[in-house]
Formats: sequence, C-alpha cells, structure tokens
Amino acid sequence: MSLTQRASRTLAVLTVAAVTFAIPAIAIEFRNALDDSPLDLSPIKGETFTDAVKSFHETGTNPYVGNADAIAEGKKIFNDNCQVCHKPDASGGMGPNLIDDVVINPRANTDLGKFEVIHSGAAGAMRPFSKRGMTQDQILKIIAFIDSLKK
Ligand code: HEC
Repeated sequence: MSLTQRASRTLAVLTVAAVTFAIPAIAIEFRNALDDSPLDLSPIKGETFTDAVKSFHETGTNPYVGNADAIAEGKKIFNDNCQVCHKPDASGGMGPNLIDDVVINPRANTDLGKFEVIHSGAAGAMRPFSKRGMTQDQILKIIAFIDSLKK
C-alpha cells in the first residue's frame, strides 16, 4: 500500500469515528404535541448547538432557568414573537395563559413540553417557531423567561 493510500485510509477511519462520536446522544424523547411523532431536532440553517441545548437534549432540563442574562434575552425574544398572542406577562390573550397550571397540551406544564410546542407547533395559531428561524437556544431562553413569571 502506498503512503497516499495509507493516508487516505487513515483519514477514512478517522472520519467515520468523528461522525459516529459527533452525533449527540438524544436520551430524552421529544414528541410533536399534535400527533406524538418524534421531533426532528436537527439544527436550522446556520445554527450551532450551544452547551445549554446539548445538555437539554440529554436531560430535558433547561439549564437557563434562573439565569438572569438568559431570562433578559428570553424576554426580548418573547416580546418580539409571542406577546402578541400570549400578552407580555404571558397571562394569555388570543393564545392561552402560559403561567397558570392549566394546559391544553398535556406536556405543556413541563419545560420539555413547552419546548416541543414552541419548536414544532401545536393547534391553530401556534406555529412551529423552528420553521421561522428561531434557534433551540433562543427557545430555551424564552422558556426560562416564562418560568421566571410564575408566581
Ligand atoms: C398567533 C398567535 C400566537 C403566537 C404568535 C404564539 N402563540 Fe403560543 N399558542 C397560541 C395558541 C392559539 C395556542 C394553543 C394551541 C393549542 O390549542 O394547542 C398556543 C399554545 C402555546 C403553548 C402551549 C400552552 C398549552 O397550554 O398547551 C406554549 C408553551 C406557547 N404557545 C408558547 C408560545 C411562545 C413561546 C411563543 C413565541 C415564540 C408563542 N407561543 C407564539 C397562539 C400563539
């Protein structure tokens, strides 16, 4: 085997290894609120998963809860995208109250369920925000903001 062949074979082995180990292990099941199908959590165009997103995929726990900077950012994104239907304090308008204990979608009282609805949509006017350029990191920040409003 020539040196070039050997080098390219090594490269091929390394590539396979890199691809195998780069795929994040998704331990938690993310499901569509409407039909219970598995969610496609692949990044949107230009999105790089943050450590918070990677950790959320594995644990289903939002690392930004209680983080003042993330909450402040989440508030801005909420005001730009959500308050028109849910009100600035998330108490509900055309869309439901997000800070009481009453939920339409059975998992929406958990951060995982909120993420599923915001990422991939629910009934009627609640559109999938991943299809509107929102990154998963931004969704986690919005959820941290909503959680901060709960009494
Ligand atoms: C055009 C109006 C509209 C906008 C904008 C909107 N929502 Fe909604 N949202 C709704 C409606 C209507 C529902 C109820 C859907 C259903 O019946 O399943 C809903 C449901 C939800 C739920 C689940 C509540 C439950 O009880 O099941 C969450 C969480 C939520 N929205 C968060 C958000 C966030 C965060 C944003 C911004 C990124 C947003 N929504 C933007 C209308 C809207």
